[in-house]
Amino acid sequence: MKSRFLVRPVRENDRADWQTLWEGYNAFYGREGDTALSPAVLAATWGRLLEASEPVHGLVAEADGRLVGLAHIIFHRNTIHIEDTCYLQDLFTAEECRGRGVARQLVEAVYETCRVQGMTSVYWHTHASNTAARVLYDKLATNTDFLVYRAKA
Ligand SMILES: CC(C)(COP(=O)(O)OP(=O)(O)OC[C@H]1O[C@@H](n2cnc3c(N)ncnc32)[C@H](O)[C@@H]1OP(=O)(O)O)[C@@H](O)C(=O)NCCC(=O)NCCS
Repeated sequence: MKSRFLVRPVRENDRADWQTLWEGYNAFYGREGDTALSPAVLAATWGRLLEASEPVHGLVAEADGRLVGLAHIIFHRNTIHIEDTCYLQDLFTAEECRGRGVARQLVEAVYETCRVQGMTSVYWHTHASNTAARVLYDKLATNTDFLVYRAKA
């Protein structure tokens, strides 16, 4: 049977555990060593997560007094409905806790957070090759087949 984890908003004294997870997530995307995020970006992101007036919010999963997963979300305007929409930018679980339902619980908590805020939609991106994430996402959401384009501004 899968265990339940405590999923809650991130708070000030989570800094050390959050940073470990955040660095793990960035390393997964190749942002480590020479290409690691700068301390300034790390500090800005952490500060925004704690600032209630920011559109950036963090949920964390806790087990036995330590953090084992994170989800970062951003609320923003949407031109086709009145209420804001939610972008799930980052999702990561500690390697030793994978396959135990942490990510599923985090995504479900994101849905609940949105419902409480009056939002009706959540969306996110993943790489086509990210099989583990896609197994989960295919169970929780619909693949829209949209492609993501990016350019330098
Ligand atoms: C993708 C990731 C978040 C999944 O986290 P997790 O905590 O292991 O996921 P869960 O245990 O909640 O799994 C949820 C479902 O997906 C399935 N799943 C998860 N990982 C899987 C894998 N490697 N292979 C097959 N199925 C997998 C589980 O079977 C589970 O199904 P169920 O709930 O119906 O039993 C985690 O592997 C991770 O952090 N990867 C690195 C970062 C990453 O890819 N983030 C997402 C970027 S968009």
